[in-house]
Amino acid sequence: SQELVKRLNQTIENIPDFPIDGIQFKDISTIFLDHQLYKDVIADFVQFSKGKIDAVCGIESRGYLFGVAIASALEVPFILIRKAGKLPPPVISESYDLEYGSAVIETREGQIEKGQRILIHDDLLATGGTTEAAAKLVEKQGAEVSQFSFLIGLKDLKGDEKLKKFNAEIYRTLEY
Ligand code: PRP
Ligand code: MG
Repeated sequence: SQELVKRLNQTIENIPDFPIDGIQFKDISTIFLDHQLYKDVIADFVQFSKGKIDAVCGIESRGYLFGVAIASALEVPFILIRKAGKLPPPVISESYDLEYGSAVIETREGQIEKGQRILIHDDLLATGGTTEAAAKLVEKQGAEVSQFSFLIGLKDLKGDEKLKKFNAEIYRTLEY
């Protein structure tokens, strides 16, 4: 809602030129100081996903901040998507390109079930590279990517272009 967006805009701090010149860093840590605001953010995500998903996949690490609470409120499983080497075997992996080099994300084998309707959740949709890899990881395991949700979407980076092919609903609480 407009009211929620307004409260978030008053709370999230913008830090110019962090971590490098030209980047406007949105610090979401202040949301967790205000438990009522946090609850309202979760309720808004829950409203988007209610009745539409069988499990939530959250992306390490900031995707866990809201993802676990969304899954708990919807009474569905939460599956951790982690950066490579953190989860014990057996794992399923997916690699993706970064500005320099590449990265790998993983889930534990068997936690995502075939045919499940999955919500992929993260705090931020920037270039979409991380989320695209997460969606491939989900599809690889025979599940369906039904929805994506993010606290923040950065319009100029056109991350949603990378997500179109999954034919899933996309929700952003805030867009900059
Ligand atoms: C940030 C952010 C998203 C991702 C978005 O995570 O939390 O997960 O980058 O970028 P993209 O759309 O260009 O792929 P980061 O890798 O900084 O790690 P963190 O969540 O552990 O802080
Ligand atoms: Mg992240």
